[in-house]
Amino acid sequence: MNDYLQPNFTNFSYIVASLLFIFGLKMLSSARTARRGNMVSAAGMLLAVVATLLSGGLSFIWIIVGMLVGGAVGLVSAKMVKMTAMPEMVALFNGSGGVASLLVGWAEYHRAGSMEIGIALPTGLAVLIGGITFTGSIVAYAKLAEKISGKPFLFPGQNIGNMALLAIALLLVVAFSLLAHGGPGVPYTLLGGLILLSLILGVLVVIPIGGADMPVVIALLNSYSGLAACAAGFVIRNNVLIVAGSLVGASGLILTSIMCKAMNRSLANVLFSGFGSAAPASGGTAVQGEAKPVSAEDAYFILEAASSVIFVPGYGMAVAQAQHAVEELGAILRNNGADVKFVIHPVAGRMPGHMNVLLAEANVEYELLVEPEDVNPVISTIDVAIVIGANDVVNPAAREDEASPIYGMPIINVDQAKTCIVLKRSLNPGFAGIQNALFFRPNTRMLFGDAKASVQALIASFKEG
Ligand code: TAP
Repeated sequence: MNDYLQPNFTNFSYIVASLLFIFGLKMLSSARTARRGNMVSAAGMLLAVVATLLSGGLSFIWIIVGMLVGGAVGLVSAKMVKMTAMPEMVALFNGSGGVASLLVGWAEYHRAGSMEIGIALPTGLAVLIGGITFTGSIVAYAKLAEKISGKPFLFPGQNIGNMALLAIALLLVVAFSLLAHGGPGVPYTLLGGLILLSLILGVLVVIPIGGADMPVVIALLNSYSGLAACAAGFVIRNNVLIVAGSLVGASGLILTSIMCKAMNRSLANVLFSGFGSAAPASGGTAVQGEAKPVSAEDAYFILEAASSVIFVPGYGMAVAQAQHAVEELGAILRNNGADVKFVIHPVAGRMPGHMNVLLAEANVEYELLVEPEDVNPVISTIDVAIVIGANDVVNPAAREDEASPIYGMPIINVDQAKTCIVLKRSLNPGFAGIQNALFFRPNTRMLFGDAKASVQALIASFKEG
C-alpha cells in the first residue's frame, strides 16, 4: 500500500471496528442477542488488530511471541475456569489491561526521553489509573478466590489517608506533565514515584472492601482499565484504542451504577463503608417466630396442586449447582399444567447475571425468565413461590423495616404469594448478615437441606406420584 492509502485504510478499518464494538455492546444488553454481540465485538477487535499490524513500522517477532504466550494463557484459562469463578477471571483480565496501559506509558516515555505536555499528561494518567487497576484487581481476585480473607480490612484514618495519597499521586501527574519536555532526570524520578504510588494505592483502596462487594469493585476496575487504555491510546496516538477504552470505561461505570441501584446502596457506601465487617450486620428489628419445616413429600403435594409457580433462585442455587435439577422440575411442573416463571433479581448471587448464566447453562428458555417488576404487581395471584437458596433478595425487611441495613433495596415479594417454599440448609442469614422474617411467615414452608438434593427429592416425588 502506498503512503497515501495506508493511513486511510487504517483509519477506515478503525471506524468500522468502532462501529462493530458499539453494535456488539448494544447486542449484549439482551440474553437473546448476547452471544452474537460477543462475536460482533470480537470481529471488530480482530479488524482493529489486523489493521494495526498492517500499518507498518512494527517488530513482528515480539508481537508473535506476545500473541502466542498471551493467546495460550487466555485459551487455557478460559477453558479451565468454572462458571462460578468468572468474576475472578474478569478481575485478572482487568488487572492485565491496567498493567498493559501502565507499561505502554512507561515504555513510551523511556523511548522518547522527553514529551510535550499533551502527551505527558495522558502518559501520567495511563500509569496512575493502570497501576491502581493492576494491584486493585489482584487484591479483588485474591479476596474472591479466598487466597486472602474476604473481610474488609479497616484501620483508623484509612479513607483520609487514601485520599491524601491520591492527591499526592495527582500532583505527581501534574508535575511530570509540566516537566517531561525537559528530558529524563527529574521527570523520570517523578514517573517512577508515580508507578510505585499507583501500585500501593490499588491495594489500599480495595482492601477495605468486603469480599462479597467485590463484583461491584470488579465492574468499577473494569471501567478503570478502559480509562487507562483510553489514556494509553492518546499516548501512542491510536484512535481505536481511545474509542475502545472509552466504551469500556463508560460501560463499566453503567454496570457499576446498575449494581449499586439494585442493592439500594451508593457507590460511596460500597467503597468506603466496609460493608460486611460486622457479622451479623447491625441494625434492623429483631426477627422472632417459629419456622414451619416441610418435607419434600408434603412440598410435592403443594406443588402438584399449583397452577402458577415462580422459581426465585439465589446464591444458594449456585453453591448447590442445582440449576439443572431446577430446570427439570420447572419442565415437570409445566407438563403438570402449571404456568412457570423464573424471577431473576439483578443482584441475586455474587456476580452480575449470575442466575442468568446458570439457568442458560441448564437450557432454561429465555421466555421463562422475568424481572421482579414484572411479577411483583401480580404476585398475590401466584400459587407457589419456590425460593432456591435466595435470602436477601426476598427479605421483606427491605420493604418493611426502616432500621434494616437493606431497607429500600428492591426485592421479590415472595412473602405475598399464596404459599412460599424456601429451600436452604438452615435459618442462617445470607450475604447481608441479617435475619429474614420471610422464614417465619404463616404462608412460608421451609424445605431444609442442600438445594440440589431437595429439588431432586421433589422430582423423585413427581416421578413416583
Ligand atoms: P444470599 O442473601 O447471600 O443468601 C444465599 C443463601 O443461600 C444463604 O442464606 C444460604 O443459606 C443459602 N445456601 C448456601 N448454600 C446452599 C446450598 N448448598 N443449598 C441451599 N441453600 C444454600 O443470596 P441472594 O438472595 O442471592 O442475595 C445476594 C446477596 O449478595 C445480596 O445481598 C446482594 O446485595 C449481594 N451481592 C450481590 C452481587 C451481585 S452482582 N449479584 C454483588 C455484590 C453483593 P443456608 O446457609 O442456610 O443454606
